[in-house]
Amino acid sequence: MNAILAFESSCDDTGVAIVDTDYNILANVVSTQLDHSLFGGVLPELASRLHLKNIVYLTEAAFDQSNLSPSDISAVAVSINPGLIGSLIVGLSFAKSLAWSWEKPLITVNHMLAHIFANFIENKSIQPPFLALVVSGGHTELVYFSTLTQFEIVGKTLDDAAGETFDKTAKLLGLGFPGGPAIDGLAEKGNPDFFHFPRALNRKNNFNFSYSGVKTAVLEYLSRHKPEFIEEHKADLAASIQQAIIDPLIHKTLSWAKQNDIKTVLLAGGVAANSALRKQLSDQASRLNIQVFYPSVSLCMDNAAMVGAAAVPKFLHQQFSSLDINAFSNKGTRSL
Ligand code: KG4
Ligand code: ZN
Repeated sequence: MNAILAFESSCDDTGVAIVDTDYNILANVVSTQLDHSLFGGVLPELASRLHLKNIVYLTEAAFDQSNLSPSDISAVAVSINPGLIGSLIVGLSFAKSLAWSWEKPLITVNHMLAHIFANFIENKSIQPPFLALVVSGGHTELVYFSTLTQFEIVGKTLDDAAGETFDKTAKLLGLGFPGGPAIDGLAEKGNPDFFHFPRALNRKNNFNFSYSGVKTAVLEYLSRHKPEFIEEHKADLAASIQQAIIDPLIHKTLSWAKQNDIKTVLLAGGVAANSALRKQLSDQASRLNIQVFYPSVSLCMDNAAMVGAAAVPKFLHQQFSSLDINAFSNKGTRSL
């Protein structure tokens, strides 16, 4: 058995996992940094310091959980972009030092690719070609995979990301941070047709996304109505905002898949936890004979098991990184 020790530290979750090369999780521990809620968002310097504080004991916990020891590890994997540079450097430096001292290969992974590969942990039979919809706090991308290692971005957001739009509009509604889970929960009791917030770039053959208009429309709507009215219709507004965010995701994903005769769609990233998105995408896809996969909710959130999963094809193809590689914060999946 080959076991990969994996680290995730790109934002505010410190994750350590051990996975085998059949995508089985042998250990998976995550520490979520709740301290940021005091600031209404992630404070980068605090995030790096908390990663530093947590990473050693989480690594010990992963070895305890798996009953493995360092001599059982075949490679060390870590996410190196995109993310907060200080946070990424903590995970990368730790991973490099273990790889060097244990004389094991280092595998570096793109965080967004890792989100996509979370799907393989619970559905090992997924085969390319497939289309992945990656939706997180900082990203909204449609990525076409012809093989497990060859892909191209076929659509992306031109401004805000889907998760960012959940977070910003939830803040406007006074729902706290992160906004996605709060809107998701409240929307269950609301009417998605209560108000029609704009769906941008709603044209045939346009596979890009734009969410800045939704944010502005919500701000404008709230300024036009009395606080008592907003309070009374909070669930309806949450449901209407959620629908405005997920409609373009569902529509553009399925249009691209249909046009290109793709029968498999993978949903990934923190927003993939959204219950309405999971249900509506699956329902609409099944009518087109398209199969949709998504990870269980805990694997949609940042974790290191997904980093280990994305490292599997690289391990099998011996795509290792040298120890002088650097982390980088830039967005996008272009340098996977
Ligand atoms: O992937 P992730 O954990 O971190 C990044 O890589 O950005 O995604 C976090 C994002 C946040 O914007 C959060 O509000 C959103 O995922 N999110 C959700 C839900 N759970 C998390 N958005 C909508 N519905 C949810 N249930
Ligand atoms: Zn993420």
